[in-house]
This record gives sequence, C-alpha cells and structure tokens, in this order.
Amino acid sequence: MRVLVIGSGAREHALVTALSRDSAVTGIYCAPGNTGISRLAKTYPVDASSGDEVVALARKVEADLVVIGPEVPLVLGVADAVRSAGIACFGPSAAAARIEGSKAFAKDVMSAAGVRTAHSEIVDNPANLDAALDRFGPTWVVKDDGLAAGKGVVVTADRLVARDHAAELLERGHPVLLESFLDGPEVSLFVLVDGETVVPLLPAQDHKRVGDGDTGPNTGGMGAYTPLPWLPESVVTAIVDDVVRPVATEMVARGCPFSGLLYAGLAIGAEGPAVVEFNCRFGDPETQAVLALLDSPIGELLHATATGTLDSVAPPQWHEGAAVVVVLAAENYPGRPRTGDVISGAELDGVLHAGTDQRADGAVVSAGGRVLSVVGVGADLDGARTDAYDKLGAIKLPGGHYRTDIGLAAVEDRIKI
Ligand code: GLY
Repeated sequence: MRVLVIGSGAREHALVTALSRDSAVTGIYCAPGNTGISRLAKTYPVDASSGDEVVALARKVEADLVVIGPEVPLVLGVADAVRSAGIACFGPSAAAARIEGSKAFAKDVMSAAGVRTAHSEIVDNPANLDAALDRFGPTWVVKDDGLAAGKGVVVTADRLVARDHAAELLERGHPVLLESFLDGPEVSLFVLVDGETVVPLLPAQDHKRVGDGDTGPNTGGMGAYTPLPWLPESVVTAIVDDVVRPVATEMVARGCPFSGLLYAGLAIGAEGPAVVEFNCRFGDPETQAVLALLDSPIGELLHATATGTLDSVAPPQWHEGAAVVVVLAAENYPGRPRTGDVISGAELDGVLHAGTDQRADGAVVSAGGRVLSVVGVGADLDGARTDAYDKLGAIKLPGGHYRTDIGLAAVEDRIKI
C-alpha cells in the first residue's frame, strides 16, 4: 500500500513513523512534510489546503490511501476532492468536519444526540456581549466559533479578561461562543469512525497551558500521556456508548456520516463525562504518545476506516506500558515565537519534528512555535517520563522551553474523579 500523508507537524511525523513500521506499506509520501518527516518519506511542497494540488500529487505518487492530518484541509473539503478522484481517503468530508469547524454545529449535533456538554451561547453582536457575559461565570470560557488552533480559547475567572478576548474576536468578525465551565480532569479519546462503526484508541490527556501547574495562556498543547491510570475502563466504555456512538449515528442521520478520526475532548465531572469539544482529526500532541504504543499495523486500520470496512478488521493491539510526549517550544511561544535558532542533540529515537527547517549548511533550526515533540516510553508512566525528560536534557535550543510536569499529577496519584 502506498500512502500519502498531508500535513507538516509532529502529529504527521508520528503518523509517518507508524506507517514506516507497517510492512504492508510499501511507499510513504508526505506533503508538505517537515525536516524530520523527509528522513522517512519523500516530501512535496504542495498547498495542503488545495484539493486540486493534493489530488494531483496523490495521482503522481500512485497513492492507494491519502491520510489528511490537519483540520483546515478537512474543513475546506480536501477529503471530498480526493474521494471524488476515486482515491481512498482517511478524513471526513467538509460536511462532517463541521463538527470541529463550527462549534455551533457541534452543539446542535450533541443536543440532538442527547450528549452532555457545556451550556453555551453564541454572541455575534458586540452590543449583546455584556448581557451574555452576565449569564456566565464565575469562570468564563470564551471560544472562537471557528478554527483557532487551540489558541482561540480563554478560560478565566476574570470577567475583564473574558470580555477583552470576546471583544477582540468580535472585532475581527469572528462569532464568539460563551460556555459554562466544565469541571473535572480532561480526557482526549480518539475514535476511528466509519459511519456507525466506532473503534476507540487509548485515552490520553493533553496539557494545554504553557506553564507548569497549568499556568499561563492556552497553547496548541504542551505535552500528553497515555494511558490514564486514573480512568477506569468502564468510563471509556461509557464515553464510547453514550457520547461517540450517538454522535456517529446522528451524523449518519443528518446525511453527513463521519469517516476518519473523531476526537472527543471531555471533562470527567462528578456526573460523568461531558464533552468540551469535538475535533475531526488526530490531536496534537496526544497522537505522538498514543501511536508510540500502537502494536497493530496502522495502514490497515486507516485504510479500513477510509473504505468503509472498519467492522471487518481486528481491534488495535497496544504495547504494555506508557508513553509521554513533551513539547519543546520556541522562545515567546505561544506569543510570536522566535525562529532561526539552531537545534542540536535531537538525533534521537522518539524525537518528532514540527516547527523545524534545514538551512543550506545542513543545520536544523527552529521555524515555528512548537518545535519538537519528544516521546518517551516506559514500563509505566514514571518510566516514560524519565525517558522523555532524559532525551530533552540532551537537546539544545536557545530560548527553548517545555513543561516539566507532563503526566506528573497522574504519577503522584493526584487526579481524582
Ligand atoms: N491537543 C489539542 C488538539 O489537538 O486540538
């Protein structure tokens, strides 16, 4: 099987790495890819958001399967273009990708499917903002209704901060979603979905704030770990049965069946799981940890999902133990990151590239906010943390920063549900 992966982050580097371990995969291509990916796959500088360009490349490399990583091409209909060209595609249609592209659509689907989620209101007129803010609190959750790469969300106990963020979004013409705050530890559950067939992967937990102890602004994700020792298997089953399956059924009923990876972001509160958000693709950085433990050939799982035969393949098998991913970010991230710093010591197994570039003299330099994802594995979470932080200790990036507490609360048994 020849596979073309679309995207350029550490998530796509993890997907390409997993595909490279699958003996049934005979060719791996990636567009646009990145410096790390180019060591495993031939990369091509196409516009990932252009259906025409992706289809032309898929034909050129004679891909049997196209795997679309990021949300933007999915929301723009690139999967539809690939399927219309007669090529199998892992990733939902534009109609189904609205579950991430429009939070209002996602809320409507959840309401129809009877899925627990935060109470919410859309504000699209600045004149209504203050009255709407008064109906929320004491913790305000303010989201950009469209795609914002994780950075459109502000969670704050300060009404002024909430107001400023909402007003700025409205000024830019973006409708704002106000939500009630969902208490409880968060879980990211990735589920392969092919119509009404749903196959969960291992649950993971992301760390979205930039600083240790969940301090500072939200980011695209600073680290993650899997599995979750504090989450009983019965809760995963409840998420699949009470959240994912009804949503998959509702999408079929609406004529926009989901095909690809449905990412359920949940808070596990006293009353059980409630949905914080759905995404229409693999999460970053959780994927880097989850795929490190995958023991089944990934090509078959992705191809079966893409071709409507997921119910005929064996469920995924997992390595024993745990995986932890820690993101090494550039100076100033999540603000305007400094780029062009030389990275050294990163030639290690489990180091996945995101914001990197290779200079003409061969030096690898930072080229984005989240620069590397460093994956550690171990017999347990403590061992996986040690592995990841040992690797980070060997990597040099001037101004680079990372959280030192990824997975630590779970190791110290401080997460209670
Ligand atoms: N881990 C957050 C995201 O992928 O959106």
